[in-house]
Amino acid sequence: MGTLLRRRHIFSLALFLLLAAAQAAPPRLSPNYYRHSCPRAERIVSDVIAAKQRANPSTAAGTLRLFFHDCFVNGCDASVLVSPLSTSSSTPPPERAAEINLSLPGDAFDAVDRAKSALESACPGVVSCADVLALAARDLVGLLGGPRWPVALGRRDAARSDARDVDGSLPRTNMSARAMARLFASKGLAPREMVALAGAHTVGFSHCAEFAGRLYGFRHGSDGFDPRLNPEFARALRRSCAGYRADPTVSIFNDVVTPRDFDETYYKNLPRGLGLLASDAALWEYPPTRVFVQRYAANRTAFFQDFAAAMQKLGAVGVKTGRQGVIRRRCDALD
Ligand code: HEM
Ligand SMILES: *[C@@H]1O[C@H](CO)[C@@H](O)[C@H](O)[C@H]1NC(C)=O
Ligand SMILES: *[C@@H]1O[C@H](CO)[C@@H](O)[C@H](O)[C@H]1NC(C)=O
Ligand SMILES: *[C@@H]1O[C@H](CO)[C@@H](O)[C@H](O)[C@H]1NC(C)=O
Repeated sequence: MGTLLRRRHIFSLALFLLLAAAQAAPPRLSPNYYRHSCPRAERIVSDVIAAKQRANPSTAAGTLRLFFHDCFVNGCDASVLVSPLSTSSSTPPPERAAEINLSLPGDAFDAVDRAKSALESACPGVVSCADVLALAARDLVGLLGGPRWPVALGRRDAARSDARDVDGSLPRTNMSARAMARLFASKGLAPREMVALAGAHTVGFSHCAEFAGRLYGFRHGSDGFDPRLNPEFARALRRSCAGYRADPTVSIFNDVVTPRDFDETYYKNLPRGLGLLASDAALWEYPPTRVFVQRYAANRTAFFQDFAAAMQKLGAVGVKTGRQGVIRRRCDALD
């Protein structure tokens, strides 16, 4: 009798804990998420991504940026990947149709789409596009010489993507460092993490339209450019960007010194007036962010450690797990 009672007691306690766990704790991301359902997932992604990067070296920077934009607009849910061509006229234009769509780089979308196709052959309907993007970003930083980190998995994909959600979710080059810090804080990221993540501008490029405002019309300084710019650099930029209105594709490396290496040179550039975007220069001017620029400029290990940690945190922003979201069959469409 006593044992029976006790057993029932234990049983109901276990049931209670189970129910409580199901209700209270949202499912968490885990590095082993696909261990049983798709054990080769990481390997499949890294093979496809490495081949794509070999064939087209601009893939890495583009994909890194794509991941950032995905996570800042409604969380890391692959909503940024939906092609405007895939949606019907009855649904709103997807995020990619927004003005800041920034000529998001075609190779980055292609890289993710290819990895997803390979996964759909190996384990159909299992691995989310959001996870593919997180893995691809990690792999590509490593291929450029940057740090590696474990990617927690289990994100689910958005079943909607709306260009109207983009407004106000992404930093703009004309924002003050304080305004950017507020925006990052709203995603749970501290100034230190913001500065570490901005180190992504050690690779890739920007279109002249993104910084042309710094090259003309400034009243201070004899030449009319932003006095925070190194004068020789400013003159070189004017020459390179001279025809950008006629040809808006003209672009300049974000890190003019070592454009293809994932290293700490981006931070070294800032105090020398070699930051390309006004938002880069702003990180040097604002004391709460300047301390981290100084730290990372002087210490690559510190930058790599903090970048890796911040990317893991970025990858958890607003994620959909458990019964939220869907596993899309294609990354460039909602079905
Ligand atoms: C802090 C505020 C930020 C601002 C204002 C900003 C703004 C920009 C702008 C305007 C461009 C040029 C886009 C173009 O002309 O095509 C750019 C490029 C880029 N951004 Fe940022 N960004 C910020 C933070 C980040 C973060 C946190 C990451 C990633 C972790 C990132 C990764 C990149 C990369 C890799 C590129 C080069 C893209 C390519 O070459 O295709 N940015 N960013
Ligand atoms: C979005 O980017 C594409 C280039 O990738 C460009 O053709 C298109 O005009 C852009 N859309 C808007 C609304 O700016
Ligand atoms: C920043 O630029 C955007 C468009 O690129 C504009 O809508 C916004 O008003 C600008 N903000 C400031 C503070 O100048
Ligand atoms: C560089 O940063 C790493 C990691 O934070 C730290 O352990 C190391 O002591 C730093 N090195 C120097 C020279 O400050």
